[in-house]
Amino acid sequence: MSHQIEFHGVKKVFGEGADAVHAFGPVDLTIHQGEFVSLLGPSGCGKSTLMLMTSGLLEPTEGQVVIGGKPVNGPQTDVGIMFQDNTLVPWRTVRGNIELQLEMRGLSTAEYSERVDQMLAAVHMEEFSDRHPYELSGGMQQRAAFCQAMVHTPGTMLLDEPLGKLDAMTRERIRSDLQTLWMQQRPTVIFVTHSIEEAFQLSTKVAVITPRPGCIERIIDVDLPFPRDFEVKSSPEFSAHVREAQEIFRSYGVI
Ligand SMILES: Nc1ncnc2c1ncn2[C@@H]1O[C@H](COP(=O)(O)OP(=O)(O)OP(=O)(O)O)[C@@H](O)[C@H]1O
Ligand SMILES: [Mg+2]
Repeated sequence: MSHQIEFHGVKKVFGEGADAVHAFGPVDLTIHQGEFVSLLGPSGCGKSTLMLMTSGLLEPTEGQVVIGGKPVNGPQTDVGIMFQDNTLVPWRTVRGNIELQLEMRGLSTAEYSERVDQMLAAVHMEEFSDRHPYELSGGMQQRAAFCQAMVHTPGTMLLDEPLGKLDAMTRERIRSDLQTLWMQQRPTVIFVTHSIEEAFQLSTKVAVITPRPGCIERIIDVDLPFPRDFEVKSSPEFSAHVREAQEIFRSYGVI
């Protein structure tokens, strides 16, 4: 199955009449299989609204989302979703939480046991698999939630500010874990962030979104090698990309 994501004239208006809020769109965009696309835009421009419409939890007012050639008409069970507030349940261990994702999909936890170990190792959490969420720091909980979203190897991942609440050092660490996993498995990713640097570090393309109602102002192709380590991030090309996005936001008075 292909994991291409298409947006055809997707628009969202909340409410009606005088109270209507035009949150997003209309937007046309195609994200090819294996691409890592960041949505970079100011607060309230409709990024989460777009993610909800992509995951089938919210219906567009106009237009259509298509994943793998099929129109999205309801919740997408084969998509990995991670929102800013993690979804760990307090009464299960880290491993138990990750297994919950498998159980909900009717997959065998025994068959996935090795995969769970690999995921935990990838985010340096193998020693904490038997701990409960309350025994973990916020960053560790976020890493566990990340394993949870990825364990069933989704071909499509929707990540809405997954690193938003983390301190700068943990954030940098998980960013690089995320990059490694993406390079190994090449899912199609939509990643929401406010951080210009983060967007250019991770993405093959950055969609710069205007203030509400969010529309795509520009798509910036990020033709820099992976992994985007310190050297790549200190290159003049990287800085030029960052400046390009900053100039757009400055022209809108956002920064
Ligand atoms: N269920 C809703 N009912 C009414 N208005 C809503 C609803 N959800 C979102 N909105 C409005 O739509 C706009 C876009 O919201 P959204 O959460 O998508 O923004 P965002 O880009 O994700 O912002 P942030 O970066 O702060 O997370 C906002 O003006 C918000 O108030
Ligand atoms: Mg949001």
